[in-house]
Amino acid sequence: MPGRERADVNTRALDGRHRTIVRMGNPVLRERAQDVPHDRFGTRFLRDLGRDLLRTMFEDNGAGLAAPQVGSSVRVFAYYIPGEGDRDQVAPRVLVNPVLTLVGEPTELGWEGCLSVPGLRGMVPRHPTVKVSAFDTDGNELTFEAEGFHARVIQHEYDHLDGVIFLDRMTDMSSLMFEEEWEQFAKGKDLPVEV
Ligand code: NI
Repeated sequence: MPGRERADVNTRALDGRHRTIVRMGNPVLRERAQDVPHDRFGTRFLRDLGRDLLRTMFEDNGAGLAAPQVGSSVRVFAYYIPGEGDRDQVAPRVLVNPVLTLVGEPTELGWEGCLSVPGLRGMVPRHPTVKVSAFDTDGNELTFEAEGFHARVIQHEYDHLDGVIFLDRMTDMSSLMFEEEWEQFAKGKDLPVEV
């Protein structure tokens, strides 16, 4: 998802390289991405992919970025939640082969955008809580529970691994708008998200 200030992160300290983000219409965004085989954990391929996703996400002001968005059809995504208002910060994180357990009903509405769908925002219903089981790029197991905005970012990024774009999840297309109009007419009603 796109669009927030990253003043607290020094992108020059990140050693990945920036990759080009593919946009809606590129078929890779509609494929089911492949699991990363366990023998690739800890390899240069996977470490570089994780670093590149983080660097590209920060430089393009995203809250999250999935591997298919840089043309790599594998089940990996990166995200970062800046601490703002009553939101707790979540340090930059890369998840490999994530498995989600969705808790509750998908009834929490919030603004989303997507770096692969530049310029648009819309209200998307998401589950309020998600339990996550995944690996880091070295193959260490990660299990945790996320709520609210954190859970939203994870659901948006996970969808990219299944070829799903946030527009597919919208239940009321009347909230779809351009970023400038969002700034003018809708900002402040909820915080935006871009993943
Ligand atoms: Ni996205």
